Amino acid sequence: MKVAITGKGGVGKTTLSSTLARLYADEGRTVLAADVDPDANLGLALGLTQEEVDAIIPISKMRELAKERTGASDDNRFYKLNPYVADIPEKFAKSINGVKLLVMGTVDVGGTGCVCPEHVMLKSILSALTYRKNDVVIMDMEAGLEHLGRGTAANMDQFIVVIEPGSRSVQTYRNVKRLASDLGVKRVRVVANKVRDDRDEAFIRENIPAEDLLGCIHYNPEIMDADRNGKSPYDFSPTAIEEIRKIKAILDRDET
Ligand SMILES: Nc1ncnc2c1ncn2[C@@H]1O[C@H](COP(=O)(O)OP(=O)(O)OP(=O)(O)O)[C@@H](O)[C@H]1O
Ligand SMILES: [Mg+2]
Repeated sequence: MKVAITGKGGVGKTTLSSTLARLYADEGRTVLAADVDPDANLGLALGLTQEEVDAIIPISKMRELAKERTGASDDNRFYKLNPYVADIPEKFAKSINGVKLLVMGTVDVGGTGCVCPEHVMLKSILSALTYRKNDVVIMDMEAGLEHLGRGTAANMDQFIVVIEPGSRSVQTYRNVKRLASDLGVKRVRVVANKVRDDRDEAFIRENIPAEDLLGCIHYNPEIMDADRNGKSPYDFSPTAIEEIRKIKAILDRDET
């Protein structure tokens, strides 16, 4: 099961990523959760303390490692495009509540698309994750869609777009669907978050085809309380966990 969780800013990508990761971990699965947001906060949502989060060096900042693996020359003009990275998730992941967290960081790609050893290494690691046959891989993506076009998540089984009940979110879902098809990602699913009432839910059901809708998570002050306290929503919000468990059950059916 390999999903990239995407959507607009603040819709609940990290909340969903962390909760799914912990549900799978509690089942005894090997779970790799990749934080692909430069404004990394998946660690906190998985249950790390702020100090533990601050101590993590993102992979993109490991210049020496990139140099060693890609054999880059000092002027960065020559390096391997297919460095060996299969051992990196195990070596550099931070384990938290049964989840292996990989903080990827970002490499400034500028306007032209970056060709630097760090970027080559990041991409190689992300595609290596997709070869881990029986493992669960969850990518918590940066808000917005432009990074999807760079192909960071192109090898995932599916994209999950987190939306809020509103027309702009529905538009985002349609845009992601188009992009995914360009990238060859066949499945795009939707989780509607911060649903307040039946009218919100009806709006979602009218605008998202049933086969694409994984489910709804209701607006829930427990999730906000968890965030305010810098804690994992998984340890704070039983109602949300039950809703996300149902979403996971549909994902489980995809796997079989
Ligand atoms: N169902 C919900 N009910 C109430 N608050 C929620 C719900 N889901 C998420 N939130 C709150 O919304 C805020 C954003 O959530 P989260 O960080 O998961 O979103 P995100 O999409 O990852 O944001 P970003 O784009 O900044 O990465 C957080 O304060 C979170 O606690
Ligand atoms: Mg986030």
